[in-house]
Amino acid sequence: MNYRHGYHAGSFTDIFKHAILVSLIKSLLQKNTAICYLDTHAGAGYYDLFAETAQKSLEFESGIAKIFHENNVPTLIHQYLSCVQKMNARFSGSKLSSLRYYPGSPSIMRYFLRPQDRMILTELHPQEYQLLRREFAGTKQASVHLLDGYQGLKAFLPPKERRGLILIDPPYERPNELADLALALPMALKRFATGVYAIWYPIKDRVTIDHFHRSLKETIQKPILIAELSIYPENSPLHLNGSGMAIINPPWQLDEHILEYLPWMWQHLSVQHQGQYQVSLL
Ligand SMILES: C[S@@+](CC[C@H](N)C(=O)[O-])C[C@H]1O[C@@H](n2cnc3c(N)ncnc32)[C@H](O)[C@@H]1O
Repeated sequence: MNYRHGYHAGSFTDIFKHAILVSLIKSLLQKNTAICYLDTHAGAGYYDLFAETAQKSLEFESGIAKIFHENNVPTLIHQYLSCVQKMNARFSGSKLSSLRYYPGSPSIMRYFLRPQDRMILTELHPQEYQLLRREFAGTKQASVHLLDGYQGLKAFLPPKERRGLILIDPPYERPNELADLALALPMALKRFATGVYAIWYPIKDRVTIDHFHRSLKETIQKPILIAELSIYPENSPLHLNGSGMAIINPPWQLDEHILEYLPWMWQHLSVQHQGQYQVSLL
């Protein structure tokens, strides 16, 4: 396991993924009943953009640094940026802070969840797990586990709340990760059919993604919403061109909510107006 998210924290793919996560949780929190959030590949919890890792890749410069100081932003982006700003203010001790820290998915969810909600975080890298455990030590509603994310799906589903959001955000270090996902998801859905599942995936070329979409459609008999954002042409071999989220059992009108900010995001993040965005049912 070589992947460390510190190299990629705050990148354009993080912004896309985390904004969608905020849309999902906002929709689910419209009901008062408690929900359970399961983050199968949770990472370290938050990242220092001044650290050697982030400074080496500088991926945050074409991501969060481009929008952190924007004022005239869509409502959902404002809510997401408030969370990033709060994390920076916590460390700087001042309300008007500059950008240094970037929250990972567990910290973003903690910002939005209510006291009645619960979070389960699994992470397999021992160092990332230690950082995550330390960061969430004082968070009573969170449990943190050194565990394979796919084992976590078996161990923690269905949640006792019977309402849940599951983020599956693997590093895609292994070439067969997409195929593993297509196998793991039917098992998870068998255990918890009504859960909302958000699966992040990288876009390097369209053929691989079309194949992944086809296998999702064949193996999962549930509504699946696809949202994607690319900032380079999709078959450009030099870069990670974009990323997508496949959302199983999407909340009502999620597509419309995402389209309120995705065009804005593409305009602000795309490189010379390359790439594209899309939201559609599979
Ligand atoms: C893309 S990062 C997660 C980022 C995080 N979800 C966020 O949005 O802030 C993927 C994480 O999965 C971890 N990981 C790799 N293989 C895993 C596995 N089989 N089970 C759980 N975690 C794993 C990596 O150590 C890494 O921290």
